[in-house]
Amino acid sequence: MSDPIETIFETVAHTSTDIQGILGSRRSYEAGHNPSGEQQLAADVYADEQLETAVLALDEVGSYASEEREEVIEDNGTYHVVCDPLDGSSNLRSNNGMGTIIGIYDEKPPAPGEALLAAGYVLYGPITTMVTAVDGTVTEYLVEDGTRKILNENVKLPDDPVVYGFGGKAPEWPDDFAEYVGSIEQEWQLKLRYGGAMVADVNQVLTYGGIFGYPMLKERPESKLRLQFEGHPIAHIVATAGGASTDGTMSLVSKTPTELHERSPLFVGNQPLIGELESTIE
Ligand code: AHG
Ligand code: MN
Ligand code: MN
Repeated sequence: MSDPIETIFETVAHTSTDIQGILGSRRSYEAGHNPSGEQQLAADVYADEQLETAVLALDEVGSYASEEREEVIEDNGTYHVVCDPLDGSSNLRSNNGMGTIIGIYDEKPPAPGEALLAAGYVLYGPITTMVTAVDGTVTEYLVEDGTRKILNENVKLPDDPVVYGFGGKAPEWPDDFAEYVGSIEQEWQLKLRYGGAMVADVNQVLTYGGIFGYPMLKERPESKLRLQFEGHPIAHIVATAGGASTDGTMSLVSKTPTELHERSPLFVGNQPLIGELESTIE
């Protein structure tokens, strides 16, 4: 009897090969907007439709929720899947990395971080990889022709941080956060790696050590990224790999969204960097 969580990830891996195959022909913007008010690419819509069909076809899946859809689609299984079908889709125009983010909960969303059973992402880069956090272990796979091959069966954040990347425009950063960035650059001497797709930037943090964040902004304290579809899964993966997460005050997995598409400031990376950030941000 195969593990239902691995069955879900195998299904996503299989679907990701199909998604990657159409990226070249779906770079145009659709007329529609997602529930966060962002204009949708044809690729966003296609990826969402493919993942919904594939995931809901599994008996064990009880619901599918996506950042591209207002409502949760209910079924009658016990595992609840949330999805950012194409993270960093604006990178399609510039042909840079992007990904698919998956969270698997034991209750229907909006769901608390504690209800997360597993999380994973697919990274469409020079090669396609999948990273999953299951039962306390982070595993990296090569995804080719819809199947997975293990590349690293115990991914751990390196102790010495090397890279950092923060979204938003520097003049929009609150002063205390700008002060923290100064420390990252001067004291920690980290190298800037910010590519416009969280999955690709977080994969650099998992590989080299460091921190990625999309901070609270002076005019937008709730920031940009979505707690349920981006924050919880990515925070769960980085914490399972020995790192930590915060919204500036508390870990992202300790937060419960009151609204499905709720946004949150998001930081993930090495624990000392997260600790220093929390002590800097009032
Ligand atoms: P999505 O394409 O799913 O909306 O996610 C894009 C997010 C995230 O992947 C990335 O880190 C961030 O938006 C980039 O935002 P900016 O373009 O403002 O830098
Ligand atoms: Mn995203
Ligand atoms: Mn997206």
